[in-house]
Amino acid sequence: MKFLLTIPILVASVVFPIRQITARGQAKDSEAADAARGKQVYAQKCEICHYSASREKKIGPGLAGLMKRETFHNRMKADDENLRRVIERGGKDMPGFRSSLKTAEIRDLIAYVKTL
Ligand code: HEC
Repeated sequence: MKFLLTIPILVASVVFPIRQITARGQAKDSEAADAARGKQVYAQKCEICHYSASREKKIGPGLAGLMKRETFHNRMKADDENLRRVIERGGKDMPGFRSSLKTAEIRDLIAYVKTL
C-alpha cells in the first residue's frame, strides 16, 4: 500500500516547483516594495505619457526628481500617499489606474518613481 502514498508525493514534488516558477516576478501584496518591478510597470503604463529622466513635458510632466520636490504640479504634497492617489484616480488628462493595476503593482511603482 506504500506506493499509494508515493503518488501524491510525486505529484506534489512536480507541481510545487512549477507553481513557484510561475509566481516569480509577479507582485504580491505581502512582499516588500520592489523598484525593479515598478520600473516594468512604469514602462508598460506610464512611459507613454511621462519621461522618467527629465522634467520635460511629454503628454504629462516628466517625473524626474518628482518625489524630491515639495509638491506636485497640483500643489499636493509630494509623498507616497498622494502619489498613490494620483496613480489611482488619474487627473484631467491622465487615466486612473485603480482598476487596471494591483495594489502591489502600485506599491512597486511608487518605489520606482522615488528613484527618479
Ligand atoms: C495618457 C497619458 C498618461 C498616462 C498613461 C499616465 N499619465 Fe500621469 N499625467 C498625465 C497628465 C496629462 C498629467 C498632468 C495632470 C493632469 O492632466 O491630470 C499627469 C500627471 C501625473 C503626475 C503628477 C505630476 C506632477 O508633476 O504634478 C504623476 C505623479 C503621474 N502623472 C504619474 C503617472 C504614473 C505613475 C503613471 C503610470 C501608472 C501615469 N502617470 C500614467 C498623463 C498620463
